Amino acid sequence: PGQLTVSGAVSGEQLGAKVKVQGWVRSVRAQKANLFLHVNDGSSLQSLQVVASSELNDPLLTFGSAVEDFPFKIKERHSLEYIRQFPHLRCRTNAFSSLLRIRSEATTAFHSYFKENGFVQIHTPVITSNDCEGAGELFQVEPSGPDNEEEENFFSVPAFLSVSGQLHLEVMSGAFSRVYSFGPTFRAENSQSRRHLAEFYMVEAEVSFTQSLEDLTKVMEDMFRSATEHVLAHCAEDVDLFHKHVTPGHRVTVEAMLKKRFPTITYSEAIDILNRSSENFAFPTDWGCDLQTEHEKYLVKHCGNVPVFVTDYPYDLKPFYARDNQDHSEHTAAAVDLLVPGVGELCGGSLREERLDLLRARLEEAGLEDTYSWYLDLRRFGSVPHGGFGLGFERYLQCILGVDNIKDVIPFPRFSHSCLL
Ligand code: 4AD
Ligand code: MG
Repeated sequence: PGQLTVSGAVSGEQLGAKVKVQGWVRSVRAQKANLFLHVNDGSSLQSLQVVASSELNDPLLTFGSAVEDFPFKIKERHSLEYIRQFPHLRCRTNAFSSLLRIRSEATTAFHSYFKENGFVQIHTPVITSNDCEGAGELFQVEPSGPDNEEEENFFSVPAFLSVSGQLHLEVMSGAFSRVYSFGPTFRAENSQSRRHLAEFYMVEAEVSFTQSLEDLTKVMEDMFRSATEHVLAHCAEDVDLFHKHVTPGHRVTVEAMLKKRFPTITYSEAIDILNRSSENFAFPTDWGCDLQTEHEKYLVKHCGNVPVFVTDYPYDLKPFYARDNQDHSEHTAAAVDLLVPGVGELCGGSLREERLDLLRARLEEAGLEDTYSWYLDLRRFGSVPHGGFGLGFERYLQCILGVDNIKDVIPFPRFSHSCLL
C-alpha cells in the first residue's frame, strides 16, 4: 500500500521498474510528508533506504518488522555479553549477523583449502563406541524407556557422542592418503571457561606419509593462512565492522599473525621460558605438567603475539595414538599444539604411532588391546607414517575476530548448565 520509492544503486532500464523487497525494518524516521525506513534482509550489513508517504506511518512499524517492545534498543551498541541473553534475537543485531556471515564464509574457506590441496572429505560418525582422547569427557547416548538395560541397549555396546573423528580419519587415510572432516564434536567438560563448549565444531585432517612434525605443522600453518586470507577477502565489510566497533584494534593483531612464518618451540623450551619468567602462574610449570591457558597465553606473548607451535610433549600426557619419540631422559611424544593470541590452544595434533609392536604394548598396558584390535589392524596391513590434527573452529573465530568468549561465536552455545532453545 502507498507509494514506495526505492533509492540506491538503481540505474538504466531498472529506473522506474517495480521491484519487490523483502526484509526487516532496521530503523524508522518520520518527517512531515515522508517516512524514511531502512530495510535489511540479512545478506549483508547494507540496508535499503525506503522513502514512503507518511500516511504509512504506524506505531507498529518499528525495529524488527513491527515487533513491539523489542527487548533491547537496537540503535545502541550492546556488548556481545549483553545480547547473549537473547539467543533467539541476537542474530538481528549488526555485530552478531556479521559474525554469523563470517562464520559461514570461514566454513567455506576451510573446505576450499582442503579441496585445493587434494584432501577427501570424510563424514565421520557423530555416534561412536570409542573414546579417542581417553579423557573420559564422553556424553553417553542412552536409550530412554523401559528397555534401558545394559543388554537391551540399542547398539548392544556403550555408545557416545564423538569427541573427535581422528580414529575414523586414520582408517580413511590408509585408503586416500589425505582426508579431512569438519563437523560437530562433543565434550562433557564441566568447564565455565571462555574457550570450552560442550558442543563445538572441529576441523580435522589426517595425512599419510608424514615423516616429521614439520610436515604436519606446514599443513596447519598453510591452512590457517589460507582460511584467514579467504575470510578477510570475502567478508571485508563484516570483518571491518567487527574490527572497528566490536573488538577495536584487533585487525593489527590479525595482520601481524600473517606476516611471518609461525615460530616453533619444544615443550622443554616452553617450560624453560615459563620458569624464567617473573609471572606468578596459578598452576605449576615443572617438566611433565600440562600447559594451562595462562601458560599458553604467556608463551604466545613471549613469542611476539603471533601463533606458535609447541612440539614434543611429555609422552605420559598424550593419548595412546601419539608417536613415541623414544628419547630417554625426558620421554616425549611427537605431538604438537598451535597456540594463538587471545585464545591459547587452537589446534592439537601428532604423528601417530605406526609401529605395531610399540602401539600394541601401549594399548596392552592400558587394557585396551581388544577394544582397539581394528586400530592395530591398520598397523598390520600397510602401515605408513602418518599424522594429523584438529582445529577448534570456534576458537579459530575467536582468534581472528578477537572475541573473548567462545559462547559469542556459535549460534546456539551449549555448555554446562545451559542448553537454551
Ligand atoms: O586437542 P584436542 O583434544 O585434539 C583432538 O581431539 C585430536 N584427536 C584431534 C586430531 O588430532 N584429529 O582437540 C582439538 C582442538 C583443540 O585444540 C581445541 O581448539 C578444540 O579442538 N577443542 C575445543 N573447542 C571448544 N570447546 C571444547 N570443549 C574443546 N575441546 C577441544
Ligand atoms: Mg589438545
